[in-house]
Amino acid sequence: MAKILVTGGAGYIGSHTCLELLEQGYDVVVVDDLSNASLESLRRVEQLSGKSLVFHEVSLLDRDALRAVFKKEGELDAVIHFAAKKSVKESVENPLLYYQNNITGSLVLCEVMQEFGLSRIVFSSSATVYGTNGEMPLREGAQTGAVNPYGQTKLMMEQILKDVGGVNAWDVVLLRYFNPVGAHASGQIGEDPEYPFNLLPFVSQVAAGLREEVSIFGDDYDTEDGTGVRDYIHVVDLAKAHVQAIANILTKEFEGKSGSKGETLTYNLGTGRGYSVKEMIEAFRRISGKEVKAVVQPRREGDVAVSIADPTYSNEHLGWKAELGLDEMVRSAWKWQTQHPKGYRS
Ligand code: WQD
Repeated sequence: MAKILVTGGAGYIGSHTCLELLEQGYDVVVVDDLSNASLESLRRVEQLSGKSLVFHEVSLLDRDALRAVFKKEGELDAVIHFAAKKSVKESVENPLLYYQNNITGSLVLCEVMQEFGLSRIVFSSSATVYGTNGEMPLREGAQTGAVNPYGQTKLMMEQILKDVGGVNAWDVVLLRYFNPVGAHASGQIGEDPEYPFNLLPFVSQVAAGLREEVSIFGDDYDTEDGTGVRDYIHVVDLAKAHVQAIANILTKEFEGKSGSKGETLTYNLGTGRGYSVKEMIEAFRRISGKEVKAVVQPRREGDVAVSIADPTYSNEHLGWKAELGLDEMVRSAWKWQTQHPKGYRS
């Protein structure tokens, strides 16, 4: 079976994707510097799948170490590239850290891929590349325009992969995530942020009594209840989309199908259904049975009112459709929270 290199595979979306890859019979090699992830996540992925994976603690900024991994692992069939810093707030406060880590790290990966003749990559992009584009729901051809350094790094990497992929006849798949939430149904792996900047992990910690209350950043948006609306997508649905993308680009080659190499495919990964902040908090109260105190605060800098995907193109051309709904997103997040209150640190 094909061997997939997963950068950032110990992280939230990375670990869920490694689990899906192993369950589909792929061999998995993870490269992660563990700067924002725990090795424990991969131990649990192995336990859950009953399979083993190979792990190298390597930073993409260390070209020699990455080359050594490519040399040691021999024939790699594709890369799924997750490794990146992803806090919008932190990127605004420290743009150099984001350009250094996300862009330079990705360039080193591209150089080593080119050197070893690896020509297939699935890239973890983000709906943040659409910036404040107001045309909802968002289709892949919508105007892009990142409004923070984090989003800029994603947009730049998309362009770099298009250019490098084009000249090298690589197969490139760009996956633009909307709002990833939830956890594997087992409650054994999940999101474990240093600080819960995102809504759902914050609400989860309030429900667990780890935090006093959740701030609702603005209730004066032009939405039904005045609070921000987002297209939340279950992390397991997201993981399955990555495995589908890998299968598509490998099958094209493996079955000798005439697939034009050097094409870049872009897919929005969302459900097409938006939920407001208040609806998410209400869903958490309903499913957890906890109070979840919420207080309205001023808007957060850089937030858009609404961000919702049009998943039609992904459904038809990637051959993937989100299947898990709001209740399962919340239920799985709550199960992870209650089973592992301190994430992987407990
Ligand atoms: C969702 C909604 C907030 C926290 C970001 C990145 C995006 C992706 C996902 C990486 C908004 C509101 C939030 C809180 C709140 N990350 N909110 N109180 O900002 O849509 O997307 O994370 O790829 O790139 O931009 O996600 O969960 O922070 O916010 O009211 O404590 O919840 O205003 O309306 P966001 P979020």
